[in-house]
Amino acid sequence: MIIAVAGFVHLLAVVVWVGGMFFAHMALRPSLALLEPPLRLPLMAATLGRFFGWVAAAVAAIVGSGWGLIAGTGGMAAAGLHVHLMTVLGLVMAAVFVFIRVVPYPRLVAAAARQDWPRAAAALATIRRLVALNLALGLVTIGVAVLGRGTT
Ligand code: HEM
Repeated sequence: MIIAVAGFVHLLAVVVWVGGMFFAHMALRPSLALLEPPLRLPLMAATLGRFFGWVAAAVAAIVGSGWGLIAGTGGMAAAGLHVHLMTVLGLVMAAVFVFIRVVPYPRLVAAAARQDWPRAAAALATIRRLVALNLALGLVTIGVAVLGRGTT
């Protein structure tokens, strides 16, 4: 039962993080090009601020439940190759998220507060590239987790 709950929490948090990145990158970002920088950049700073709070909780839940699943099923030595790969990819994704949250995101907020639109746009462009990277890693990780399950 505890393993089932850990699996549920793991998947729920993956949905929040990867689904949120998919929406932000594929739907919200292209549509916001309709707005001028003084509207678009503060809106993105506020939207990302809210989303990153949820991502921080999702990352903690994914790592915690992931280690719980490993510990409850015989430890790392008994885990398949797909779990080893998922752990590495998940930790890289978490590091990319922490970098976004502590480097370009505060730059976006500070530049938007100063109404320095060129610097705010540059910080947002960095965030966009890193979110695209994490989205790609997230989709690959889901593939590794699900497709690898029957084969490793
Ligand atoms: C420290 C990071 C992570 C650890 C330790 C971890 C660990 C695990 C473990 C042990 C399982 C059960 C595997 C099995 O029953 O064969 C699992 C399932 C899964 N994980 Fe992770 N995981 C991590 C990160 C991630 C990330 C970042 C994603 C996606 C972006 C992800 C997606 C999944 C999915 C979709 C499943 C369900 C697979 C299935 O039931 O077919 N995991 N994870």
